[in-house]
Amino acid sequence: MKKRKIIIDCDPGIDDALAILLALNSEELEILGLTVTSGNVPARIGAKNALKTLQICGRLDIPVYVGEELPLKRELVTAQDTHGDDGMGENFYEEVEGTILDNGVDFIIDTLKNNKDVSIIALGPLTNIAKALMKDKEAFANLDEFVSMGGTFRIHGNCSPVAEFNYWVDPEGADYVYKHLPKKIHMVGLDVTRKIVLTPNIIEFINRLDKEKSKFITEITRFYIDFHWDQEGIIGCVINDPLAVAYFIDRNLCKGFDSYVEVVHDGIAIGQSIVDSFDFYKNKPNAHVLTHTDEKTFMKMFLKRIFKGYEDVIDNIEGVI
Ligand code: RIB
Ligand code: CA
Repeated sequence: MKKRKIIIDCDPGIDDALAILLALNSEELEILGLTVTSGNVPARIGAKNALKTLQICGRLDIPVYVGEELPLKRELVTAQDTHGDDGMGENFYEEVEGTILDNGVDFIIDTLKNNKDVSIIALGPLTNIAKALMKDKEAFANLDEFVSMGGTFRIHGNCSPVAEFNYWVDPEGADYVYKHLPKKIHMVGLDVTRKIVLTPNIIEFINRLDKEKSKFITEITRFYIDFHWDQEGIIGCVINDPLAVAYFIDRNLCKGFDSYVEVVHDGIAIGQSIVDSFDFYKNKPNAHVLTHTDEKTFMKMFLKRIFKGYEDVIDNIEGVI
């Protein structure tokens, strides 16, 4: 099988780490590098978390780059209340022996220039992508596909009644990408990701499947599950980012429609993704907005890839997924 070359732009972040785990366990993907921006945590902390996640899978051969450390215009507001001060559920893991490179934006540009058919899966604020577009838009002529976990269409936001965190942290960055990227953006927003809940039942199940292999996931999600109970009365945690990776691999996982989208820069609706589903503005669609997903199909795919060898149990377990 011809692997698809990708860059994962991220802000690890617990669900980013889970998404990276999924990508590392997916033979369809060749991960050329991880670029990190500030979002859930400041970028340099996120980069350490990216290294930790790569180390868990024995893949420290994949380079990690720090990109932009501040949003284009807004003051940085992190989500350390949700992901922990360390961004990994307050486990404060020992630092991993590994190199964190700078100039993540230049890595994106150079990789696009020197490779045909590179795709980008963006799991955080779009600051790095916006900066790369500003610096060298021509490099994006080689871009194959672009998937962004971010935004909302009809469902309520998680930073305000209407705004999703990634686009709320850097609305100028998100809007710039929606207005200048030469390829359609696959918007994997909260309308679909909110359905993806990692429950204590699933955690219990994977611990019984393989205590060692489930240790990292169990550790980093504990704090996140507590946050979801305290903030939203949910038992479990919404893992947004892995769905963006899974959708990139299997388009059948989500359904949606093409639309023009832009992002609000300021005011009460700052960070809102405006999805012109009725074509009021008569603009050319710049996005494919995902609105439906099958959470069971996703969860089985996610678990089967990470817990190889247990496919039959995962496919047939009752009352867990
Ligand atoms: O709104 C959810 C998104 O914001 C996820 O990507 C999460 O990791 C944070 O970056
Ligand atoms: Ca993220």
